[in-house]
Amino acid sequence: MALFKRKNTDSNLPDILPEHIAFIMDGNGRWAKKRGMPRKFGHREGAKNFKRITQYCKDIGIKNVTFYAFSTENWKRPKDEVEAIIELFREYIVDVRNYIGEEVRVLFLGDKKIFDDDLQKKMNDLEEDTKEYSKMTMLLAINYGGRDEIVHASKILAEKVRNNEIESEDIDEVMFQKYLYTADVPDVDLMIRPSGEVRLSNFLIWQSAYAEFYFTDVLWPDFSEKELNKALADFSRRSRRFGGV
Ligand code: IPE
Ligand code: IPE
Ligand code: MG
Repeated sequence: MALFKRKNTDSNLPDILPEHIAFIMDGNGRWAKKRGMPRKFGHREGAKNFKRITQYCKDIGIKNVTFYAFSTENWKRPKDEVEAIIELFREYIVDVRNYIGEEVRVLFLGDKKIFDDDLQKKMNDLEEDTKEYSKMTMLLAINYGGRDEIVHASKILAEKVRNNEIESEDIDEVMFQKYLYTADVPDVDLMIRPSGEVRLSNFLIWQSAYAEFYFTDVLWPDFSEKELNKALADFSRRSRRFGGV
């Protein structure tokens, strides 16, 4: 929602930057196919790009950045592809402190319970160990679905009503939002989807109610810092009214 003003130290960047950018990391499979390689090769390149773009967002002062890595619907894919993605995820979270440094808070969006206990522990430990960091929050959506998130929040609130902790009349948008996986993170300002698809695919459906959308045909492994600069320039020219005039 709120935009923060920054000093324009980099002439490639506009003065107004989004406070929260969300990326749908799509097009890995097609990127590999174009090169006659297996889909999982594309996921590996996509993961490398995730690292590059995370670092760039941190460098230019974006406060919140969310990546869609694996949806609740992606379990439909062939077992070996799913396993390759989970394996990459493991590698990247073991290594995460090497590329985000000591300044980035990490949050995982999605139901962790589906993962092995040791992986869940790594995810929980990382959230715990980084919770005080404030330069940037990096959110990784894995086993994430926007509808699943809303149902999950509703169940928590229903339980609270049943235990007489709250009255059903107390439930409003502000309270509801606190029980989403994103909790205290502000709404999405800029939603970016590469790969030519023009849909949300169940990503952050609550949080992007007033997001600006940016679509490009570039495939995720090729989505460079320069492409992001283009999206930021486009965003800075949008007129956001939030229902006002
Ligand atoms: C996005 O790339 C990564 C995940 C969904 C895990 P895709 O694998 O969907 O790539 P395309 O859309 O088939 O090219
Ligand atoms: C969305 O991409 C999920 C991720 C990028 C993780 P998909 O490739 O799964 O989306 P659809 O199937 O094209 O809608
Ligand atoms: Mg896809």
